[in-house]
Amino acid sequence: MKNLFETKPLSLLLEEMKGENRLHRVLGPIHLTSLGVGAIIGTGIFVLTGVAAHDKAGPALILSFVLAGVACIFAALCYSEFASMVPIAGSAYTYAYATLGELFAWIIGWDLILEYTVASSAVAHGWSHYFQDFISVFGLHIPRVLSNAPFDFNAAGHLAATGTWFDLPAIVITAIVATILVIGIQESATFNTTMVITKVTIVLFVIVVGAFYVKPANWHPFAPFGYTGVSFFGKTLLGQTGANGEPLGVFAGAAMIFFAYIGFDSISTHAEEAINPQKDLPIGIITSLIVCTILYILVTAVLTGMVPYGKLNIDSPVSDAFRQVGLPWAQFLISLGAIAGITSVLLVMMLSQPRVFLAMARDGLVPVSFFGAVHPKFRTPYKSTILTAVIVAAMAAFVPLRILAELVNIGTLLAFVIVCGAVLIMRKTNPQADRPFRCPMVPLVPILGIGFCLLLMFSLPVENWWRLIIWLGIGFVIYFSYGRHHSVLAKRRAASRL
Ligand code: ALA
Repeated sequence: MKNLFETKPLSLLLEEMKGENRLHRVLGPIHLTSLGVGAIIGTGIFVLTGVAAHDKAGPALILSFVLAGVACIFAALCYSEFASMVPIAGSAYTYAYATLGELFAWIIGWDLILEYTVASSAVAHGWSHYFQDFISVFGLHIPRVLSNAPFDFNAAGHLAATGTWFDLPAIVITAIVATILVIGIQESATFNTTMVITKVTIVLFVIVVGAFYVKPANWHPFAPFGYTGVSFFGKTLLGQTGANGEPLGVFAGAAMIFFAYIGFDSISTHAEEAINPQKDLPIGIITSLIVCTILYILVTAVLTGMVPYGKLNIDSPVSDAFRQVGLPWAQFLISLGAIAGITSVLLVMMLSQPRVFLAMARDGLVPVSFFGAVHPKFRTPYKSTILTAVIVAAMAAFVPLRILAELVNIGTLLAFVIVCGAVLIMRKTNPQADRPFRCPMVPLVPILGIGFCLLLMFSLPVENWWRLIIWLGIGFVIYFSYGRHHSVLAKRRAASRL
């Protein structure tokens, strides 16, 4: 039992950083911030804002973005402390290994698959829909049987056959992104920066041009669904309840649009490729999150000011709002921004997953010959990048978007709770360790981070909890049948006993 909770000493982690087979250190603060913005702005703001304002929060979705942003800032400060202290590739997985022990590390590593691989599949799906919309402007169409997953939720909320075979554009974009990722981190970061410049320009365009079309009357009533909307395992505790028993209001909106913020933490998986990780990782994490929070709040304010919330479009709310105010040409530009945005999210998420696997492989929890393999020329974890791409493409091609997106939020929130908790533990167990960045106001900030994230987790529909529990159950089976017996830490301990 004791072995399951054995922690990996900080000294050992730092020692390992000096070993062979490391990744290329090429990323500076601008690249890192741009990777953060690359991972953050995408499907969430371009797609989910519509349904969240329309169905859950009205113009008060602005406050939902503030709430989710604040929860993320608490978590970001905790991530930054760890990332500067233990600048190696595994992110929350490594932090959990150092503080809570092997079993928790495994749980979090397994949970991060939900965040990165499943999010990539959801995002590839979203990309496919925007892409098909975009080419339809030129009269081009993907054959219907190759345009979507074979089953999806119908209007009544039941799973039904769509009459299609699979989503071909989602497979193609995943393959293209995987190729760039295998070729090199520098190439990936440069490609990302181009996409980030495009999407941020278009987001600024939405804010600046949209501001001229805002009618303050559209902000009244401001919170038609109320300011709360807190639920606990599917039971509404505070606020209004929707037709299907779901909570409505600012908190319910925040739980949904939390997806828009996911990604800033992925910067911590690039620690090993950062030139000066101790200083630049906290800069990248915090700057990218603050920039995106400000942009999101402004976009939501403009959007709900341009169009009455009840008239926001569900699939492409941003471009449709411009059509509604008489600027149809802007639709083309915004679709382009959305495609660039979503491509970079896919790139960074698929960049992050193999780096978490790499850290787990070095610890022996997954097979090192496969997940630990670094390409001799490109210095990228190529085998696991290709495997990640195959899984992402398969899920994006066959599984409905809604199932994928819902799983991602709960998995990521769990990772945030564990990282905030781990900062508290590390301050107690290793008070003297060198912390180039210190989370301010400990224990208040980590405790607020845990509180806010749990609140958002509870505000999600109850099925998500079951899916999370099943997912973790599968993880336990794998750990007890493989990881536990191959753990490098366990082998070291056994050897030291001889
Ligand atoms: N934050 C990312 C997005 O909104 C996952 O697409």
